[in-house]
Amino acid sequence: MIITIDGPAGAGKGTVAQFLAQKYNLKKLDTGMLYRALAKAVLEAQIDVSTQQEKIIQLAQQVTIDATEQEGLRKEEVANLASIVAIIPDVRTILNQIQRDFAHANPHPYWGVILDGRDIGTVICPEADCKIFLTASSEVRAMRRNQQIGGTPHHHHEISKIMIERDMRDQNRRVAPLSAAENAYTIDTTYLTINEVCSRAAYYIDQVYLKNKNSSSIGA
Ligand code: DC
Repeated sequence: MIITIDGPAGAGKGTVAQFLAQKYNLKKLDTGMLYRALAKAVLEAQIDVSTQQEKIIQLAQQVTIDATEQEGLRKEEVANLASIVAIIPDVRTILNQIQRDFAHANPHPYWGVILDGRDIGTVICPEADCKIFLTASSEVRAMRRNQQIGGTPHHHHEISKIMIERDMRDQNRRVAPLSAAENAYTIDTTYLTINEVCSRAAYYIDQVYLKNKNSSSIGA
């Protein structure tokens, strides 16, 4: 069972993926953390992003799933640079392989896997059993992000500006831009509580599970 969750920053992907991973016993990968791990390495090596792409690609080859567990990946500076290095096609090719290997490894003792990101349903796992796409207005997403980092109302405007810039980059890049897969279930989370979003996502997974179960017993 492969489940994908895509959507822009602050749409609730992380919380929903965590909830679904627990509810259905799924092995989880937050794929944004791979890009963030690379961005952190780029910052630490003081690489000039506009002139030293080769060095970034070399660093991408050293990114591992374990690197996603390190401290310091949540900073907005890292998130922003993650979205910039994510434009480089060779970087994506390298990190895509890690994500596909994760998705297709035997998940035992888990029931399956869940991956969240920007291009999981469209590029990484187009064959996924259930694809969910989360959206929300940019105002609400900025407000949630500001609350998450404990920012004051004064920070809201700045966060909103940075988030909109990041969205534009993620949506407009040439390779694997953020978009909903044709067969994804889209949930607009703007006016929903996190509990409502989680139960709606779980409902979609249950539907897919029942459909798969019925079709395999019909064929049996
Ligand atoms: O999900 P996140 O905010 O941690 O992601 C950080 C950046 O990484 C995001 O702005 C774009 C990039 N990213 C990507 O290009 N493809 C993914 N599957 C996940 C993240």
